[in-house]
Amino acid sequence: MNFMSDNVTGAAPEILEAVVKANEGTASSYGNDDWTKRLTQRLSDLFDRDVAVFPVATGTAANALALAALTPPWGSIYCHAEAHIQADECGAPEMFTGGAKLVTLPGDHGKLTPGALSAALGRVHKGFVHVVQPAALSLSQLTECGTAYSPVEVAALTDVARHHGLRVHMDGARFANAVASLGCSPADITWRAGVDVLSFGATKNGALGAEAVVFFDRELSENFGYRRKRAAHLFSKMRFLSAQLEAYVTDGLWLRLAGHANRMAMRLADGLLALPGAHLAHPVDGNELFVALPEPVIAGLEAAGFGFYRWDGAVVRLVTAWNSDEAAVDALLAAARRLAG
Ligand SMILES: Cc1ncc(COP(=O)(O)O)c(C=O)c1O
Repeated sequence: MNFMSDNVTGAAPEILEAVVKANEGTASSYGNDDWTKRLTQRLSDLFDRDVAVFPVATGTAANALALAALTPPWGSIYCHAEAHIQADECGAPEMFTGGAKLVTLPGDHGKLTPGALSAALGRVHKGFVHVVQPAALSLSQLTECGTAYSPVEVAALTDVARHHGLRVHMDGARFANAVASLGCSPADITWRAGVDVLSFGATKNGALGAEAVVFFDRELSENFGYRRKRAAHLFSKMRFLSAQLEAYVTDGLWLRLAGHANRMAMRLADGLLALPGAHLAHPVDGNELFVALPEPVIAGLEAAGFGFYRWDGAVVRLVTAWNSDEAAVDALLAAARRLAG
């Protein structure tokens, strides 16, 4: 009944089991443990590249610290106006970068466009001591509107970024949902398309609380260990974060979980769009649905106890999760049909 977000649910049994297993015996602290070593190997296999991996506890920490590795304090970070780093992180990126400036750009359905990015970068007075200097581009995958950038779209944006000397970060809080939906390899949507560092999300898709900062260019990660420690994200019992992440990427669990969430979102979309007056505000590329509904349907669903956010005017946001119950989805659809008369 609760479609408020994908973090309202619990953790996947496979991940809980891995944590319980990691509880046996002793292990070296601060990431010098076997789970963390194996995790680096597993993510290197997954991304088909020798990556550097740093587990942290939250997506905000992953984003803010990753960006801090890409920009000096006098740098600027280009992102979508609705990006989580801009709208929902309470200034953490600004704080951890030592004051870098976020420059926001518009774009339909939460996506940046090469044209807007290129125009904005073209206007910057580079080398002029009075203005912040462009340093990084941050893309969200899925976007905050639930859409996914294709590999071609990512590459077109990173081409512009490279041309202007920017590094590229990807906020992958819902990276699994994007990969499951696009059906591409994780490498194709990241480093092969020009991404330097990824916030690899897991919490929203079945972990207890673990995300990984993944560097595709290991040189960029050289001082990251110090950054993470200063930010108080170097867990002494790191094995419990790494065990979650290891289980998450073992035997394709992450994509199975995300695939289920995506299918449930599509089921909701198909059912709701059959109602008179309903239409999508954004395409459904993953596990988030932004749909305009008649007010009596919205109010009636709320009164019936279904949880979701009123977003913008008649648009509501519904988010499905790795364990969303098909029966709950169908119950919402049946209630919506009744309310729509
Ligand atoms: C796009 C996006 N990025 C990052 C995050 C990470 O947030 P948190 O710090 O709550 O784990 C979220 C969570 O809502 C998100 O939606």
